[in-house]
Amino acid sequence: MAASCLLLGVPPRAAPQKPPAEFVGSETCQGCHEDLFGPFSKSAHQRIETDQRRGWEGRACESCHGPGGKHAESSAAADILNPAKMAPAAADQGCLMCHLNQSTRVGRLQGGHARSQVACVACHSVHQGPARLGPTRAAALNRACAKCHTSEWAEFQRPHRHKLPEGAMSCVDCHNPHGTFLPGSLRTVAANEPGCFKCHADKRGPFAFEHPPARLQGCRTCHEPHGSANPRMLIRHEQRFLCLECHSNVGLTGNAGGPPPAFHDLRSSRYRNCTICHTKIHGSYVDRALRR
Ligand code: HEC
Ligand code: HEC
Ligand code: HEC
Ligand code: HEC
Ligand code: HEC
Ligand code: HEC
Ligand code: HEC
Ligand code: HEC
Ligand code: HEC
Ligand code: HEC
Repeated sequence: MAASCLLLGVPPRAAPQKPPAEFVGSETCQGCHEDLFGPFSKSAHQRIETDQRRGWEGRACESCHGPGGKHAESSAAADILNPAKMAPAAADQGCLMCHLNQSTRVGRLQGGHARSQVACVACHSVHQGPARLGPTRAAALNRACAKCHTSEWAEFQRPHRHKLPEGAMSCVDCHNPHGTFLPGSLRTVAANEPGCFKCHADKRGPFAFEHPPARLQGCRTCHEPHGSANPRMLIRHEQRFLCLECHSNVGLTGNAGGPPPAFHDLRSSRYRNCTICHTKIHGSYVDRALRR
């Protein structure tokens, strides 16, 4: 109809209102955007194109870009949605049309990033290879996070830290970029315990003799999770100062343990490293004094 009007040289009758946008299907897009099809067909989102149950069979492109009828005729950028140019919240709504309520908390809008206007597409580039974040996973991931988190990345250049700069581990081993219930979006293992236990299961217990700060206040009470100048990533240069912050007569707060018994000669170098004797500092199965 539009074509015949053009041939006759008469303008089509003015529509009383904006006509509903039309879906044209992915094949139409392919005619002009051939280069994107190869990578797309290998990505996880190809399933949108082929899966009959999702309602987008044959028109996957338009599931994210909206109906393309007008754009397919005009070729104008203004006539098609581009999530990369939309406000973060609006762009996220498009993704969450399908990704809401995933068990991995992808749709958690209270997470640190969604709350701070960091859109899904700030981390996920849909058209570049696999829809995740690159082939050499840990190293590429760290680079992607470090792009914005330069100060955290700098912390990983300290002498004692996990092997992130070597690419043996990544930020998302500890953090869920989509948010969790714990502060700092820390990953959890069962029952909302910190994800550190996934790799450090020996620190998990439950122990017959707990060291309360490890259980109640968390690893960060004594360790710098992103790296430290001190051995074992401790927050204090000399171990005994860490211990004596809580184990002393002064400043008895709710967190404090009692002072060491009097035979501890704190002036002697022997007592500089308390864990020479109190080896089970994270909790013991057999000894109240955490020595074995
Ligand atoms: C007739 C050719 C043609 C067809 C058919 C076509 N496009 Fe385009 N498309 C273009 C051109 C040309 C541009 C570049 C426009 C510009 O940069 O001004 C473009 C740009 C785009 C952009 C980027 C817009 C932006 O904001 O930069 C998207 C997204 C897009 N097309 C999606 C689609 C989808 C989805 C379809 C299928 C529904 C489709 N195109 C069909 C020619 C076409
Ligand atoms: C899962 C959602 C999604 C699907 C499906 C999708 N796109 Fe995109 N598209 C995006 C996003 C997001 C961007 C912004 C750039 C980026 O993040 O990769 C984009 C950007 C584009 C652009 C702009 C050029 C560029 O590289 O920035 C074009 C053209 C385009 N898409 C075409 C298509 C075509 C054709 C299809 C179907 C084969 C398609 N898209 C399917 C989400 C999608
Ligand atoms: C029309 C539904 C739909 C939309 C809209 C959509 N996705 Fe997806 N997405 C899927 C499907 C289907 C998969 C394949 C895995 C699955 O079945 O859950 C997937 C997988 C993914 C994956 C995992 C890829 C992998 O390798 O495992 C990422 C990341 C992703 N989508 C990001 C996005 C982003 C970002 C947007 C918005 C720009 C978006 N999606 C929009 C349906 C969708
Ligand atoms: C700060 C960066 C970042 C943001 C923002 C982000 N993601 Fe992710 N996403 C990731 C990373 C990294 C992974 C891989 C996580 C892993 O392997 O545990 C991932 C994995 C996924 C996956 C596949 C695995 C899964 O958990 O189901 C989907 C789907 C996904 N993201 C969708 C989204 C959507 C939708 C949004 C926006 C609401 C979003 N992401 C926002 C970084 C991000
Ligand atoms: C586009 C920039 C950007 C990228 C990329 C990015 N972030 Fe963020 N991130 C932010 C902003 C902005 C905030 C909120 C302000 C803040 O706390 O620094 C934030 C907050 C955080 C927080 C603390 C807040 C919380 O509760 O979640 C963590 C943890 C985090 N990001 C981890 C990551 C990881 C892991 C990656 C890589 C997968 C990543 N970020 C990639 C911008 C980014
Ligand atoms: C070994 C585990 C681990 C790794 C790996 C890790 N983090 Fe963290 N991160 C933590 C812990 C623990 C916290 C403190 C959470 C809390 O209690 O608030 C934290 C806090 C943060 C915060 C919140 C700001 C703050 O200091 O409270 C940001 C942002 C962050 N991490 C980003 C990153 C980025 C980016 C990477 C990768 C370069 C990364 N983290 C790698 C464990 C880790
Ligand atoms: C009360 C302070 C304190 C708390 C809380 C604490 N640690 Fe430690 N941690 C230490 C000290 C001190 C060392 C050094 C022991 C040594 O040098 O023999 C250490 C060493 C370690 C080591 C390296 C040596 C080893 O035993 O494997 C790991 C791993 C570790 N801690 C993980 C954790 C995790 C995970 C948490 C949280 C569940 C945690 N720590 C909480 C004080 C603490
Ligand atoms: C993905 C596995 C993994 C996770 C998650 C993890 N770690 Fe580790 N951690 C390791 C490995 C492997 C080493 C020892 C090898 C090395 O030097 O990197 C280590 C070493 C350590 C050390 C001793 C460092 C030293 O200098 O000897 C401490 C302390 C530690 N981790 C604390 C933590 C804390 C606290 C968390 C949670 C916030 C955590 N780890 C999460 C794998 C992990
Ligand atoms: C954040 C505070 C805190 C830090 C730091 C801390 N402790 Fe404790 N510690 C406690 C508390 C609280 C108890 C439980 C005291 C009680 O039950 O009366 C305790 C208990 C103990 C016990 C068991 C004896 C007892 O009184 O039950 C030993 C041994 C011990 N701590 C040694 C250490 C050593 C060694 C360090 C340094 C590596 C250390 N603590 C660091 C708070 C701390
Ligand atoms: C040479 C070994 C050794 C060193 C080093 C050592 N302790 Fe002890 N600690 C002991 C012994 C032995 C006991 C008594 C255990 C008992 O009564 O059963 C003890 C008891 C304790 C107790 C009380 C335990 C209880 O059951 O009431 C605390 C608290 C304590 N030490 C803290 C420290 C601190 C803090 C340091 C470092 C400044 C330290 N210890 C260094 C051997 C040591």
